[in-house]
Formats: sequence, C-alpha cells, structure tokens
Amino acid sequence: MNDTFLKACRGEEVPYTPVWIMRQAGRYLPEYRAIRGKADFLTMCKTPELTAEVTIQPIDILNVDAAILFCDILIPCEAMGQGLEFHEGKGPILGPPVRDKATIEKLFVPDPVDTMGFVMDAIRLLRKELTGRVPLIGFAGAPFTTATYMVEGGTSKNFLNIKRLIYENPALYKEFMNKVTSTITEYLKAQISAGVQAVQIFDTWGGIFSPADFREHALSYVQRIIKDLKDWMRTERDETVPIIYFVGETAGLLEEIKTSGADVFGVDWRIDIDAAIKRLGNDCVVQGNLDPLSMFLPKNEIETRVKDVLQRASSARGHIFNLGHGVVPQTSPENVIALVEAVHKFSKK
Ligand code: CP3
Repeated sequence: MNDTFLKACRGEEVPYTPVWIMRQAGRYLPEYRAIRGKADFLTMCKTPELTAEVTIQPIDILNVDAAILFCDILIPCEAMGQGLEFHEGKGPILGPPVRDKATIEKLFVPDPVDTMGFVMDAIRLLRKELTGRVPLIGFAGAPFTTATYMVEGGTSKNFLNIKRLIYENPALYKEFMNKVTSTITEYLKAQISAGVQAVQIFDTWGGIFSPADFREHALSYVQRIIKDLKDWMRTERDETVPIIYFVGETAGLLEEIKTSGADVFGVDWRIDIDAAIKRLGNDCVVQGNLDPLSMFLPKNEIETRVKDVLQRASSARGHIFNLGHGVVPQTSPENVIALVEAVHKFSKK
C-alpha cells in the first residue's frame, strides 16, 4: 500500500509530500455527476456499493495518496432522531430545529452500528477494494459544527440561534452538546473498528467564535473526543490511527487548536502555512493550505503556488498537502490533476 499519507501523519520520513483534497469525491467530477444523476445524495451515502464507487473515483482520476469515505457530517443528526433532507441548491434541511429542552430530551445517543450500519459496511467494502492502494480516511463533524446545523435547521449566515442558546441557556447547551459529543465519539470508534486508517474531525464553523468562546463552547468537546478515542485505542486496540483536526478560519485560533490533542492540524488558506507552523510549534504535522479557488488560476500559476506552500511547510515535522477547504463544484478536474502532479513532482526527495 502507498503509506506516504500515514507516515506523514506520524511525522515520519516520506519520499514525497502526500496529497488528498477535501471534497475530492464530488460534483466537480463528471464521473460523480453520472452516478448522482441516478441517485439522490442520501441514497448514495446509504448504499455501500455507491459509496465505495464514488470514494474510489478520485483515487483513479487524481492519483491522490488517500481516500476519504464518501458520506456527510450530518448523517449522525438523523441517527439522533432529527429529520434530514438535502434540497437541490438549498443544501441540508434538518427538523425540527433543536432550540428547547423538550426537543433536546427527545434526542438519542444512538448505537452507531444499529443506526448507521451502512457507513461501517461501506468502510469494510472499501478496505477490500482499496487493498494495495491507499489508506482510507474516516470523518465526523466536530460537535459544535454539527450542532450549528441541528440548531439552525440548516446552513446559517450569522448563527443567531445557536449563539442565543449558548448565551441565554448555557446549561441546556451543555446538555445538548454532551449528547452530540457522545454520539460522535461512538460513531468514530465504530468507523475505526470497521477499518478506517485515519480520521478527520471537521470544525468548519469553529472560526465564528472569539478564542475564549471557542475554547469553552467548541474546543472542550473536541478535546474530550480525542482523549476518549486515544484512551480507547491504547487500551482496546493494538493500533492507533492518526486524528486530524480541521478548523475553518484557522488563523485566529491556532493557540487553541494546538491544545486539541490531534496528531495533525488542518490549516485554511487565510494564513501562510509557515506562520501557522511557527505558532503551532515546529514539531507539528500540518495539512493544507491552498485557497480552493486558486484552482481557477492557469496551471503554471497553480504550480508556482504549490511550490510556495511546499517550501513554507518544510519547517514542520510533517506536511500533508491539501486545499484550505473543500474543492468547489465548478472546478476543472484537469486543474486538480495538475495540482496533484505538481505536489508529487516538486516535493520529491
Ligand atoms: O471530502 C469528501 O470527498 C468526502 C465527502 C464529504 C461530503 N461532505 C460530501 C458532500 C465530506 C467530508 C463532507 C463534510 C461536510 N458536510 C462538511 C464539513 C466540511 C466542509 O465542507 O466544510 C459540512 C459542513 C457538510 C454539510 C453539507 N453537506 C452541506 C452544507 C451540503 C450542501 C452544500 C453542498 O456543497 O452541496 C452538503 C452536501 C454534500 N456533502 C455534497 C457532497 C458531495 C453535495 C451533495 C450533492 O451531490 O448534491
């Protein structure tokens, strides 16, 4: 197996910088759209054969060094008892929104295998199909990012409802977050037991907080998950899998992110990666961080930016190349192929 990605996660020597792309399985690929034309998004997430097929598409097309399970961070919300739908052009809709005690009390901490067995089935199928190729990354949303969708009922602009819950009724927010945190912990343990070889925790909306609020209302729950997973891996399994923590709007929160307990820190594009490494400490392993929209530059300029990121990231113990957030649907696959080629070519030792 190409284990460059796993070695880099552990800060070990690698022959070149491994690369994968957030949202690498998605609508920018015509091969994805062909399958999506026949099945809606949730059906794709819940049918292991379709999940496996779209997870492997970018491995074949892009030559990336890791596969990420095709699924969504909102799948556990449904397992907790909320309704979940995806509407064309509008994104996810969750209901009823979680804003009062009665609704919170009705939420379950589900058994992940009973309620989301299709995810674990897809992981087992993928491990077979990926044998001898690349490692498989599992993932979940961080508790706060997941909670924003559950409280707002979908995507939000100013996060008014969740911030009101936090500031007006902090005890109730805590009660809710304890349920979300337990759900995500058990879900990640089930993914690891089924065979994922690394996990990424997505905290896309962590950056909407001041550092103090981030520590109290978002990071504390992530720290709990990471500690729980690491204790469990140490005592109940002979192998530990690397944990990647990605926070959107990384730059204001690096001192906080450093205390998460994660093995790898995702960095978005709003900061130079060498400046981030300085604040995280040179013994860190980082992942990132080209602006996803730089994929619209001419190929020679993409190459120049790849070289710049590689050079800046050389001060860290380890680097996994990625975009600073997900690749957008309008991106040309050709440019993403050129990006992966450039990373491999210019980082070769
Ligand atoms: O990275 C991958 O290739 C793995 C698959 C993956 C998806 N979503 C597939 C998806 C992953 C890791 C996610 C994570 C996710 N989902 C996040 C965190 C990362 C991020 O991008 O910030 C969030 C916030 C979500 C929630 C979500 N899912 C929204 C807001 C939407 C609608 C917006 C959109 O892009 O359409 C989704 C839908 C979604 N998740 C799609 C895909 C490929 C598009 C669905 C379609 O085909 O119509």
